[in-house]
Amino acid sequence: EESERESMLAVNDFALKHFEKNLQETDDGRDIGLSYFLDRGINEASIKKFRLGYSLEKSNDLLNAAKSRGYNEKYLIETGLCIKTDQGRVYDRFKGRVMFPVFSISGKVIAFGGRTLKKDVAKYVNSPESLIYKKSYQLYGLYQAKQAIVKHDKCILVEGYMDVISMHQSGIENVVASSGTSLTDGQIRLIHRFTDNVTVIYDGDAAGIKASLRGIDMLLAEGLDIKVLLLPDGDDPDSFAQKHTSSELEEYISANETDFLQFKTSILLNGVKNDPIAKSRVINDIVRSIAVIPNPITRNVYITECSRMLEIDDRIVALQVNKLFMERV
Ligand code: UTP
Ligand code: MN
Ligand code: MN
Ligand code: MN
Ligand code: MN
Repeated sequence: EESERESMLAVNDFALKHFEKNLQETDDGRDIGLSYFLDRGINEASIKKFRLGYSLEKSNDLLNAAKSRGYNEKYLIETGLCIKTDQGRVYDRFKGRVMFPVFSISGKVIAFGGRTLKKDVAKYVNSPESLIYKKSYQLYGLYQAKQAIVKHDKCILVEGYMDVISMHQSGIENVVASSGTSLTDGQIRLIHRFTDNVTVIYDGDAAGIKASLRGIDMLLAEGLDIKVLLLPDGDDPDSFAQKHTSSELEEYISANETDFLQFKTSILLNGVKNDPIAKSRVINDIVRSIAVIPNPITRNVYITECSRMLEIDDRIVALQVNKLFMERV
């Protein structure tokens, strides 16, 4: 099995270099792929740092290149770089896409994401799960971010590839992405190996808000101290970073990140503060979040804060939080 892994990593490494070479040295790569990144404000330094590439719109470009260099088709299929049909035909998974390699924590290429440049059904195509790629235990950008996470004792969690890259380019390097898959416990434990502090900056749309509400409870349950930042509607960290200077971005984050209580209250209450039914629903929802916090002191601080913010007797909040907490353990 160990040699199996090595062979898969080796072919991924070949593919990484092949996609990079396509981007930098072929006409299509430069005219289509490279100009796409540059048009989006991604500079050469970021392209090199994240090893971005391009898969040619050409049948079996990677398959042929790899085979001619002696790589076994078997590993191209096992890594998901190529797909084998039931009829036994083998072809490239990624075609005409800009390529984002996914690195393991130790810097090995374990997967790829490829973004279409056309109006395609799938915006991103990603490598499938494999012996070397367990999606729910990986975070995009962690390899490039881990030192900064330790240094700042804080991790910023975003949704996508471009968010990580644009924030790095703006000088904020302690950023990782859950990459579309809804956040998993494995990913959260991975963050916790490096820090206790997480700021969630998901896209400023309905999907992003929904995902951050779900993520909040999972992060709280892991015992992490979390903050949440809501971006202006329609923005994601990438688009926001590209529209502002580095210092504006930093100032926006420090001025607008809030604790989860304020975030949930403002999202859920949303102007219904005088409606008792709505208000009690919001309080119950917040109480459920507080009840997942493992540390009793932290739990208590939030009980006090919740009762103050929502104007409800703190003994009632405490009673309900503790009831739910006991049901969990
Ligand atoms: P988004 O739809 O927010 O894309 O998905 P994005 O990252 O902002 O990409 P751009 O700016 O349009 O280029 C967030 C993340 O979800 C995953 C990717 O990891 C993406 O970065 N995703 C999204 C997929 O895996 N597949 C998809 O079809 C869409
Ligand atoms: Mn801890
Ligand atoms: Mn989105
Ligand atoms: Mn986005
Ligand atoms: Mn985006």
